[in-house]
Amino acid sequence: MTGPKKRLYIKTYGCQMNVYDSELMAQVLSADYTLTTQPEDADLYLINTCSIRAKSEEKVHSLLGRLRFLKKRRPQMLIGVGGCVAQQEGERLRQRVPHLDLVFGTHGIYRLPEMLRQVEDGGAPVVDTDYVEQFQIPPRRHWPPGQGKALVTIMQGCNNFCTYCVVPYVRGPEMSRPSGEIIQEVQNFLASGGREVTLLGQNVNSYGRGCPESLSFPQLLRELAALPGLARLRFTTSHPRDLSAELIQCFAELPALCEHIHLPVQSGSSRILSRMKRGYNRDDYLQRVRQLQAVCPEIAITTDLIVGFPGETEEDFQETLSLMQEVPFDNAFYFKYSPRPQTRAATFPGQIAESIKAARLARLKEIQDRLTRASHQRLVGQIKEVLVEGRSKQSTSQLSGRLRSNQVVNFTGSQELIGRLVQVRIEQACQHSLGGRALGCAGSC
Ligand code: 5AD
Ligand code: SF4
Repeated sequence: MTGPKKRLYIKTYGCQMNVYDSELMAQVLSADYTLTTQPEDADLYLINTCSIRAKSEEKVHSLLGRLRFLKKRRPQMLIGVGGCVAQQEGERLRQRVPHLDLVFGTHGIYRLPEMLRQVEDGGAPVVDTDYVEQFQIPPRRHWPPGQGKALVTIMQGCNNFCTYCVVPYVRGPEMSRPSGEIIQEVQNFLASGGREVTLLGQNVNSYGRGCPESLSFPQLLRELAALPGLARLRFTTSHPRDLSAELIQCFAELPALCEHIHLPVQSGSSRILSRMKRGYNRDDYLQRVRQLQAVCPEIAITTDLIVGFPGETEEDFQETLSLMQEVPFDNAFYFKYSPRPQTRAATFPGQIAESIKAARLARLKEIQDRLTRASHQRLVGQIKEVLVEGRSKQSTSQLSGRLRSNQVVNFTGSQELIGRLVQVRIEQACQHSLGGRALGCAGSC
């Protein structure tokens, strides 16, 4: 007879890829571990890390510092660090943090049970940052009840080497997941009652590149969009350079494909874009935006922006501000440039003072806040479909969900609606969300 399962706590930092990877960790360990929300009770404490900016990395180090005390109180608890910081630091991390039992890289999730056995048998810390040749994840079969939306990784790694970005160094070269496994995972999710799927990858539109037998990204979208029961399909992140006419056409033709695209522009200045090695200029970007808007007038466009890239002048920055209004973006994530190890831009001349970066970020935020409010305001009075995700963070008496165009909507409704599609009248526009009133289930909810 097997004993009771041990308890696993996972702290996740970073992007949706990391959220997916943490779910995968829980699955891979599910024979021996069950998830807990109480870190102090855990038998195994895993930290899934992000190193995209210095700040993300600092958060990881500060948590590791605090965990020293927990490990002192509960020496039997194992602590493991995975993800991008673990990949980057490897052995150095183990040496710096003596209370660590395990350091595993971005390709090591499938070897976790074996690594843990090694730790338990040998008592010595294990470090494993090996890369694998093939990206194969057996299709996931189970999701918690009431989960209406799922993340599905379709590729990992990146070959682009934008000069500011650490991802190619910590996630390795681009590798696409076999389409059969992706389709099977989506079918499994739909069979469990799911309605919305977000395809994940650092650069989804180069899916299948380099493998002649693979589907292209638009072909994969078409296959998935045709699956019965799939109400909503999304993807992130796409690179503007690789946004083909065929992919743009998918927004005109596939009813399941949501009217939203996250298309990181990074800067509005062609000079800076060239120094970032993005492979497009301001006009190319705007042209793609206009093509998207032409085939799908309702499309919401969101972006990522970096301020204070080395050599960015006031004029360059002004071009970013004007591009934001010219599109105009429905929402944006914006960051101060952060020099990262191994990247080319970290050694560029013309590094910008922190005070200038902070001032530019504040000016950018002011403009985007206004644009986001205006985008929210345009929705007031309309009746829209919401996929209900759960209780609202602000008020637990309310439900929260998202529109097809990705805005968050809070409204009053009962627990049973979680995981379902509901028609909601939008009544209120706030800075970060919308308020609405439920009218009833949308179609086959
Ligand atoms: N500094 C600041 N922002 C960065 N990003 C990536 N690398 C850096 C960096 N070194 C931002 C980009 C990217 C998003 C995920 O993070 O805007 O699109
Ligand atoms: Fe980083 Fe550029 Fe690859 Fe995106 S496309 S992950 S920004 S290197």
